Amino acid sequence: MLSKEDNERLTRVSNGAPMGRMIKQHWWIPAALSDKLEADGKPLRVRLFGDNYVAFRATNGQVGFFDEACPHRGASLALGRNEDNSLRCIYHGWKFRVDGVTVAVPTQPQNEAQYCKHVPLKHHAVREEAGIVWVWLGEGETPPAFPDLPFVGLPRENFVVFRQKVNANWVQGVETTMDSAHLGVLHQSWLVGFGDIELSSANMAPVYHLAQKPFGFRYAAVRELKDQRAYVRTNSFVMPWYGIVSPNQADLQGGSIFFSVPIDDENIHYWQMTYRTSEKLVLNKTHHYTDADAWPPLPPGPPEDNWGQDREAMKNGHFTGFTQMLGTEDFAVIMSMGPISDRTQEYLGAGDGAVLAVRRCLLGALKQYMAGEVPQLAQHEAIDYSGTAPQSKVVTGESEWRAML
Ligand code: FES
Ligand SMILES: [Fe+2]
Repeated sequence: MLSKEDNERLTRVSNGAPMGRMIKQHWWIPAALSDKLEADGKPLRVRLFGDNYVAFRATNGQVGFFDEACPHRGASLALGRNEDNSLRCIYHGWKFRVDGVTVAVPTQPQNEAQYCKHVPLKHHAVREEAGIVWVWLGEGETPPAFPDLPFVGLPRENFVVFRQKVNANWVQGVETTMDSAHLGVLHQSWLVGFGDIELSSANMAPVYHLAQKPFGFRYAAVRELKDQRAYVRTNSFVMPWYGIVSPNQADLQGGSIFFSVPIDDENIHYWQMTYRTSEKLVLNKTHHYTDADAWPPLPPGPPEDNWGQDREAMKNGHFTGFTQMLGTEDFAVIMSMGPISDRTQEYLGAGDGAVLAVRRCLLGALKQYMAGEVPQLAQHEAIDYSGTAPQSKVVTGESEWRAML
């Protein structure tokens, strides 16, 4: 349970809210799928933390990222002509190079070159990694170091990445990623046939062991098997929103990363990347999207119709009645909590340790940020991100799984 004030502090990221300012200053933000930007192609409108931006891929392949409103009189630069390594506003033809330099102001024929120097175009640093365009929206000249997360530098065939727009606050997304207690319940009808050891031991609730880490926290979910053995999975929470989850089969090198990025206070892009570190990813039914920008499917109906829940399917054995895809079940529950969940009204228990730990990380960092410090969890140079890699293993003793933490 949180106080009303802490729930506001935790969840609000728009309109200058401190949590939003902190994240924009100290972390890179996943903004778009790289594949959606074509050189000299259509610019993309991007909304993040309640503000509007435009992204475009220039002639030379570089991505430009500007505030959406033209600095002249506010026409959308998403309507702009993408040509000659620049975006040209269609209203009066002002032209902005991909690196943020204003190169033409045709409405200022007298002293154009001089005038160009002072046009207050807001452009933002961009980095492409793992099929994603990341942006830094902080103040100042120097972006934070890019975290060396397990997907960095992987070849294209080793991962799949997609996202869906969901009407829920970002913390609800992050919490559901880290909340393993729901896995064998909410997703039980989906886990059948995934070859998941967890499933064969479905009756055994795992015991969670949580360890604080410089990047956030990590936990081992330990399930006792016969003969002193245990099946152990380790997952990591990496600030500010990454849930790095172990593969669903023992000894696979890789995992899935989920991140909930605020579009505004009440909407997110819920991202998922599944990757293998040393081999090509073999796709399964959860990866066959038609549009990587809209996957997995949203619940099919409005709240008035219980989000389209299929009661007939439930009668026939489906646990949730959301038969579309595993992720649809997550979306249904987090949307059903309301756009911003009221955490003053919860009743938490033993299974909620990871949810509480997420909140402690976020609110703890915010406190340091508000005191004028760089939060410890944001000191990227000092953080060993290789320790975030998830593992899934059958072990023979406690010391063996302790070493996985
Ligand atoms: S509004 Fe863009 S050039 Fe005038
Ligand atoms: Fe889930």
